[in-house]
Amino acid sequence: MIHIPRAEYTRRRKALMAQMEPNSIAILPAAAVAIRNRDVEHVYRQDSDFQYLSGFPEPEAVIVLMPGRQHGEYVLFCRERNAERELWDGLRAGTEGAIRDFGADDAFPITDIDDILPGLIEGRDRVYSAMGSNAEFDRHLMEWINVIRSKAHLGAQPPNEFVALDHLLHDMRLYKSAAEVKVMREAARISCAAHVKAMQASRAGLHEFSLEAELDYEFRKGGAKMPAYGSIVAAGRNSCILHYQQNDAVLKDGDLVLIDAGCEIDCYASDITRTWPVNGRFSPEQKAIYEIVLASQEAAFAEIAPDKHWNQAHEATVQVITAGLVKLGLLQGDVDELIASEAYKSFYMHRAGHWLGMDVHDVGEYKVGGEWRVLEVGMALTVEPGIYISPDNPNVAKKWRGIGVRIEDDVVVTKQGCEILTGGVPKTVAEIEALMAAAR
Ligand code: GLY
Ligand code: MN
Ligand code: MN
Repeated sequence: MIHIPRAEYTRRRKALMAQMEPNSIAILPAAAVAIRNRDVEHVYRQDSDFQYLSGFPEPEAVIVLMPGRQHGEYVLFCRERNAERELWDGLRAGTEGAIRDFGADDAFPITDIDDILPGLIEGRDRVYSAMGSNAEFDRHLMEWINVIRSKAHLGAQPPNEFVALDHLLHDMRLYKSAAEVKVMREAARISCAAHVKAMQASRAGLHEFSLEAELDYEFRKGGAKMPAYGSIVAAGRNSCILHYQQNDAVLKDGDLVLIDAGCEIDCYASDITRTWPVNGRFSPEQKAIYEIVLASQEAAFAEIAPDKHWNQAHEATVQVITAGLVKLGLLQGDVDELIASEAYKSFYMHRAGHWLGMDVHDVGEYKVGGEWRVLEVGMALTVEPGIYISPDNPNVAKKWRGIGVRIEDDVVVTKQGCEILTGGVPKTVAEIEALMAAAR
């Protein structure tokens, strides 16, 4: 299995610590286990920041980073080995495994954290943490601080500054390393295979969930533990619901089906959308809309390169889509004026993309100092223009109503422009029709 090598986690911790102010400490909790009902749990997914710095896959753990600490800069609190619990729930690294397999300099049982952590914080001036994202952990942190404060009369020195860790950490996560791109390519490759499978399986009379099953099968067969987000399988008028999740309608002859789905490999997401005719042949109206969306995506790719700013790709999609809608008579007026008045938003109401990484809508600022961020090598993003003609839109001829098309690919900025990670699934009308005809 392709994964992030251990050495990379060490490199990341060092890079973060190098950016922390002198005499500071960073503290991050693992994701909590989410209960589905009674004693049944949701599939565990590690917190992305925690995973990024440790690769440690277990709940009930806390990372502590103390730059310059003589007895080791990286301390991990985690669950102890426990034969009874491991019999029921699976193996645990334990404190020895945390050191041996995950590079911790020091490891302590999580049950001892209240006794040990205040002593590690004491004397440090600043505490970095993800304030505001985990209320329970924030409360614990204040309790540990208050333990130190209560001993001030004995000479204990509580920290005076609390700093949001996100700013440093999320900027690091925005720039993907070679190892990260390799994992993202693998997630993309599996997701492409899944979309191809779903295209080949598409038949009138099946349900949306039948195609979702094809996706899930390919994801798991490829080694993905889970989809990166709830798969959207939206046929007919459902394709106009942007985050449709019901996935239980019947696929009808003559309708399009829009699938937005991607898997996750080693906590890195892929995010692909393709739209195709259930019966394998685009109608003239479906094709006309599809070609505009495809052209707008091509125009966006041309605007993704170092020194171009974040919004240029979006602007390119707005230009092509608005001009295309005017040409088809779905919008009337001057293209520039329709763009200025945002008239296109009745058909194209979302942005052309988002950062992509460990989170499908990944971390990282889109603006810096009030200006759109300039793209740099290693940044990963999606390019996903769409046109959605509401089934209830009284302003357009009936033949257009209920057509929803989105085309989404994942790219990484390179020196020359960008690398498309998700090119392995057909996209032109001819390619899609040929693939589907061959599967009949
Ligand atoms: N799948 C969610 C999105 O495309 O942003
Ligand atoms: Mn998507
Ligand atoms: Mn997306």
